[in-house]
Amino acid sequence: ISLKPYNTFGIDATADYFVSVSSIDHLKKVLTLKDYPNKLILGGGSNMLLTKNQEALVIHLNIKGISIVSENEDFVIIKANAGENWHDFILWCLKYDFGGLENMSLIPGNVGTAPIQNIGAYGVELKDHFVSCEALSLKTGKIESFNNADCNFGYRNSIFKQEAKGQYIITSVTFKLTKRHHKLNINYGAIASQLEVTGIKTPTIQDVSKAVIAIRESKLPNPKDIGNSGSFFKNPVISKSQFNILAKNFKDIPSYPISDNEVKVPAGWLIEKAGFKGKRFGDYGVHNKQALVLVNYGHAKGEDILNLSKLIQKTVKRLFNISIEAEVNIL
Ligand code: EPU
Repeated sequence: ISLKPYNTFGIDATADYFVSVSSIDHLKKVLTLKDYPNKLILGGGSNMLLTKNQEALVIHLNIKGISIVSENEDFVIIKANAGENWHDFILWCLKYDFGGLENMSLIPGNVGTAPIQNIGAYGVELKDHFVSCEALSLKTGKIESFNNADCNFGYRNSIFKQEAKGQYIITSVTFKLTKRHHKLNINYGAIASQLEVTGIKTPTIQDVSKAVIAIRESKLPNPKDIGNSGSFFKNPVISKSQFNILAKNFKDIPSYPISDNEVKVPAGWLIEKAGFKGKRFGDYGVHNKQALVLVNYGHAKGEDILNLSKLIQKTVKRLFNISIEAEVNIL
């Protein structure tokens, strides 16, 4: 079958076999199928680039359900199953006035894949509200629980991208959210100016979500219209000494402090300076409003996009002596 509807890049690669699982028991059963040695787990398909047809049994994780585990006057503990769409889950939380996740509105993908790369946007990361997740161990076939510390979260990173890579399937995620005295994160420049535009003085969490949606819609292509995987690259971290040298040649280079001797540089800026922003090669290219996003205008091949990403990496390396790493999984 074609995987085109199952990856936000909209790449038309095929899977030899495909099954959509709706419960943990169903998932366990499918994993024991001996006839299909290669198995590929698919969540929201929002962080992958398919560069070839998959000679595998693709298992689409479609386990749904949201439940309140416990609550008091101030907080609520909510468990969401892996197959819930991330943005729909946030909208559900906002409907009940549960706060914390609003800055991460409209990030594509599912709840179950969010911890793998510790998704984040506009000053908030998943780890800030994450309590634990349950994951099926492929080794033992048992469900294990990981608390926040166990996950070893970092910038677009977690244990599930490192030591535990390929060994677990996350089946649910539990969050701690506020019921009142919401802590708004509105210091991020773009949010502050968006709220100003709308004239809202004392924003609610719903207002913050709306502001984030407006910013994202103005900069990031909607995968429904133009195939993409959000940021294709991670923002690189470089030493302050290297930054100071670069800043002599490039007066407007932006940076965010990371530690006493390191800074993060927006890859989008580097790619724009390298001349790629808005460049289109047939059916694929670099988004015209955010250079960090590679796009599929219709019938691009995953391989073409992969080659473009390599050309961008090479050019950025040559111009700035900075290596930028893909954030997206190449399959
Ligand atoms: N910039 C440019 N040209 C561009 C894009 C960006 O010069 O084409 C520069 C601008 O100076 C801007 C700065 O980069 O001020 C930062 O841009 P932006 O605020 O758009 O954020 P980003 O660093 O490019 C990161 C995340 C996004 C997240 C935003 C907002 C990564 C890899 N990306 O992008 O996450 O939405 O911050 O918090 O960390 C994603 O992971 O898929 C994603 C979209």
